Amino acid sequence: MTTTKTPSKTAAPSKVKASPKDAIALLKADHDAVSQLFAEYEKTRSVTKKKALVAEICDALTVHAQIEEEIFYPAVKAAMKDKLLVPEATVEHASVKDLIAQLEGAEPDGEMYDAKVRVLSEYVKHHVKEEQNEMFAKAKASSVDMVELGASMAARKDELLAQAA
Ligand SMILES: [Fe+2]
Ligand SMILES: [Fe+2]
Repeated sequence: MTTTKTPSKTAAPSKVKASPKDAIALLKADHDAVSQLFAEYEKTRSVTKKKALVAEICDALTVHAQIEEEIFYPAVKAAMKDKLLVPEATVEHASVKDLIAQLEGAEPDGEMYDAKVRVLSEYVKHHVKEEQNEMFAKAKASSVDMVELGASMAARKDELLAQAA
């Protein structure tokens, strides 16, 4: 028998509001928060908890994708004269949104639901890796003011979260 007690020592509550972050820090914090939620999903067997976690994941990903598409991607695309990374990321967002649509309103009642969550988690992991390793690195080196961009993204995020609530 193994004990499955894992002390959640790093579970710092995400206090996004009012903390001025540059655009990349803001997006990375979102990525971390979602990855944490996927990890929690993997650990739970409770159907109620699964449903609540998936709702949280879908909302977080939807808002995140929207601020990227509305604010971050266009700024980066223009500054980097990018014809590759942003279009690819946009296509990946479409796949993510498709899975979100399949999960929203579905009942966590079996292997297909778990499979969808797992595939969503894998898509997101892949997408996040490309953003963080390629796009963010190049964006940082560009002329875009990341603090200013972060401020408009934070404002838009608050607005979208308020609408969703
Ligand atoms: Fe993205
Ligand atoms: Fe992202």
